[in-house]
Amino acid sequence: METKTIQTKKRATKPDQSKRSFMAVFACFIGSLIGIAVTFPIIGFLFHPLRKKTVYGGLDFIKVGNIKDVKGSAPRKAVIKSFKTDGWNRFDNIILGAVWLIREGDNKIIAFSSVCPHLGCGIDWSQKKEQFVCPCHASIFDINGHVLSGPSPRQMDRLDTKVENGEILVKYRKLRLGSSNRIEV
Ligand code: FES
Repeated sequence: METKTIQTKKRATKPDQSKRSFMAVFACFIGSLIGIAVTFPIIGFLFHPLRKKTVYGGLDFIKVGNIKDVKGSAPRKAVIKSFKTDGWNRFDNIILGAVWLIREGDNKIIAFSSVCPHLGCGIDWSQKKEQFVCPCHASIFDINGHVLSGPSPRQMDRLDTKVENGEILVKYRKLRLGSSNRIEV
């Protein structure tokens, strides 16, 4: 009689144990979900700057000088200063590069990037030859930026410009080197 009672008790405890196991598994599952939900945004926040591109000077026009300073037919070099931002910082008033400015009419300016499309050396203007000359591998360009000789795969990179209240503004861009196509980088 006593043995029968014990067996009945044992049978009665089994559903309780499985209920407890189920609750434990369910709690673990919910805990894991909460952990994932909290961890992913934190990882995303920490690594977000790595996914941000370094931007030079934004997309806006940058002031490079006054139109009065670009006289005659000879190109005039102007330094491009603006800002640079990466994932973490913004640096103001840094030199991004340089452009060659050519006066074309009363209120119009043409700008060429001074970066040689071959491998990126700085292009100079030779007043004697009236040509642009790259000192690195001797690419030569005419005053309109067309390649006359040398390894440059494309003409000098012309940049958008405008003149506002006598101020020259240039949309400075960096373009892929060694390519015959103009591809922004
Ligand atoms: S970098 Fe100008 S010709 Fe090579």
